[in-house]
Amino acid sequence: MAEQKIVKPKAQEKEVLIKVKNLKKYFVVGKNAVLKAVDDVSFDIYKGETLGLVGESGCGKTTCGRTVMGLYGATDGEILFDGHDISKFNKKEKKDFTRRAQIIFQDPYASLNPRMTVGDIIGEGIDVHGLYSGQERTNKIFELLKLVGLNKEHASRFPHEFSGGQRQRIGIARALAIEPDFIVCDEPISALDVSIQAQVVNLLIKLQNELGLTYLFIAHDLSMVKHISDRVGVMYLGSMVELASSHDLYDKPLHPYTQALLSAIPIPDPEAVRSKNRIQLEGEVPSPINPKPGCRFAGRCRYAKPICSEKTPKFKEVEPLHFVACHLV
Ligand SMILES: Nc1ncnc2c1ncn2[C@@H]1O[C@H](COP(=O)(O)OP(=O)(O)O)[C@@H](O)[C@H]1O
Ligand code: SF4
Ligand SMILES: [Mg+2]
Repeated sequence: MAEQKIVKPKAQEKEVLIKVKNLKKYFVVGKNAVLKAVDDVSFDIYKGETLGLVGESGCGKTTCGRTVMGLYGATDGEILFDGHDISKFNKKEKKDFTRRAQIIFQDPYASLNPRMTVGDIIGEGIDVHGLYSGQERTNKIFELLKLVGLNKEHASRFPHEFSGGQRQRIGIARALAIEPDFIVCDEPISALDVSIQAQVVNLLIKLQNELGLTYLFIAHDLSMVKHISDRVGVMYLGSMVELASSHDLYDKPLHPYTQALLSAIPIPDPEAVRSKNRIQLEGEVPSPINPKPGCRFAGRCRYAKPICSEKTPKFKEVEPLHFVACHLV
């Protein structure tokens, strides 16, 4: 991984593509039991940028990504795509939105239909949206395969003939086939060998620069998300606890949870390890079912005060474009 140079995306213009306002996604999981997977989360995604979304498993990243894509209906709150509320789309607008917003899944093994050829997997969206037919369709599929570093001979093969990294390239080609503006990348490298991860990340960055794509990049690998993201949001148990530019978030994290997460990243340089204070996260992540009032992190926070378990901290801008939800910041 280290030998592969990662080129950061260009500076971005600040035009909002997606606005998420007080988004809630609850699942009813039993009598009187509500699982608050996403609970009052707000953020913007600018055109052409990559917004990273990190947090421990189960904190609501996938649910957030799927709700933003319109795959789940929101329990409450608003999602505006290019200024339009996605819950109010009519049939035609909905179809247009499903073309403009795509997803790349975590598991490159489960997400490709094993009975379809690679060409048909990539061509499916082209057919649904009636974009190309005949020779034009074939040429488009060949072009997409080339774009993601595969070749046209691969079109007639089946998913099982490919490695994990190649399958993820197929997943990317499928997402690109219908020329989207926005892609949710849901842990696209977590299932891949470390040696392949940087290749796929570099491919995503190259495609973003060439095609002007906007990404929501979900990850639990904090070191990789730093390289690809312009800004990073940190989730904890359904809440967004901090959001800032990658540089600010990694350089001066303000939320106790972010500080703990970052201090847990292994550092290759032993000197740096010694000089860095590791913060051990104590206790378990509590259940998102019928959560207690107050700060969700209170049970594990070494700075917790009585107010923390009484009042939910507001998500506020404490420095320009640096948002934190903590009573002490
Ligand atoms: N369809 C569902 N029904 C009930 N609970 C769900 C559903 N999808 C996710 N959850 C729960 O919501 C929480 C957040 O899950 P998820 O968004 O997958 O987290 P992450 O992607 O951060 O690992 C978890 O507690 C999970 O069990
Ligand atoms: S609000 Fe309180 S418990 Fe929550 S992170 Fe801040 S100090 Fe810790
Ligand atoms: Mg997930």
